[in-house]
Amino acid sequence: MKTFGSKTQFMLALSTGLISSMFFLGVVNAAQDGKGPIKPIKVDAKKAELGKRLFFDPRLSGDAAISCATCDQPSKGFSDGLPLSKAYPGSKGFRNTPTLINTATRKNWFLDGRIGTNLNDVTREMITEDYIMNMDMRLMQERLKQDPVYVKMFKDAGYGEPSNGSVRKAIPEYLKTLTSRNSPFDKGTMTPAAKRGYELFKGKAQCATCHSGANFTNDKAYNLGVPENPEIWSDPLRHMTYVAFGTFMGIKNIMNIRRDVGADIINPKADGSNVGKFVTPTLRELKFTAPYMHNGMFKSLFEVVAFYNQGGGEDKNKNPDLKPLKLTFGEQQNLVDFLEALTGDPLTTEKFVWKEKIPTNYTAIENWRDVKN
Ligand code: HEC
Repeated sequence: MKTFGSKTQFMLALSTGLISSMFFLGVVNAAQDGKGPIKPIKVDAKKAELGKRLFFDPRLSGDAAISCATCDQPSKGFSDGLPLSKAYPGSKGFRNTPTLINTATRKNWFLDGRIGTNLNDVTREMITEDYIMNMDMRLMQERLKQDPVYVKMFKDAGYGEPSNGSVRKAIPEYLKTLTSRNSPFDKGTMTPAAKRGYELFKGKAQCATCHSGANFTNDKAYNLGVPENPEIWSDPLRHMTYVAFGTFMGIKNIMNIRRDVGADIINPKADGSNVGKFVTPTLRELKFTAPYMHNGMFKSLFEVVAFYNQGGGEDKNKNPDLKPLKLTFGEQQNLVDFLEALTGDPLTTEKFVWKEKIPTNYTAIENWRDVKN
């Protein structure tokens, strides 16, 4: 039985009681802990519409073979379902494609966190990097000027003539439209099993230390001891891409190492203690984005949870907080149920996807030197 020492304490207790009954009445959704829903971002509709067409247009890659959507596919939560991503024809990627949903609410980008400025820079990197879309921005600008649909869309969006600068603004404007909606977590409709999973997530399993906030990430990098994906070293096209990337990034001993150094490129330490750290990913929309981790080494969420349950992997730089969790099979399943409850509606409608055909089948222009644009 509680006793109240003073009138103030009594009033305090009374108001706490009132506030908690407001939770029950649904005035505030207590289950969300202030972690959602992700607020839709205000966008300029015409700029976002232009960004959408650009995102789905293969002419933004050097040889017009791939578009942003080749790897960031709407039906797969804007990832690609592969352990390691594709890349520009003639090369192959060495990392898993992360989701783009809610990317406009992040503070840094890429699994190694190498861009922490803005989505304009991210867009430039993806379009121009030779192993990604391999596009020369000057050529891209000229290509866009030859498409009357773009000439009109750029003008209507207030950008004037198509230019590489406005492409780098329009695509991020489109990315702002990709926010999570209607997950059971946000709607307060989690099953009892998922609710038990959420309690474990915050408590015994200590997932929320790194997976915090509305995006379920603190945007920081850690080493969990995720095993290397051997395909990066056995497939010459993937290895070549990693070597080219690593040479450019100044990774030491790049010809001989057989591991992905991750976020070490941001802050290399002489003792190598930053090697193998990766930026904590969001946990939203996971149902669409298997396989998991920076190199796609886990096929299912149960595999991921089982990995944490055994205290992570083996690595001399492994985060010391990762210890065996001693979760029962049922508790691990509850965690999976909770993780699945963070997935919302697929963003596959016309609002998010450019559905009209984009012309790529050009015929050669005879006497092109004499033809004016
Ligand atoms: C020490 C920080 C930390 C803790 C604690 C932690 N995580 Fe993670 N989590 C990460 C990092 C970092 C990654 C990415 C690692 C990589 O790719 O090598 C990750 C990846 C994941 C992924 C894969 C996501 C994807 O898109 O590939 C899931 C799912 C996940 N964590 C769930 C959990 C759960 C459940 C717990 C608690 C049992 C947990 N995490 C505890 C940091 C953490």
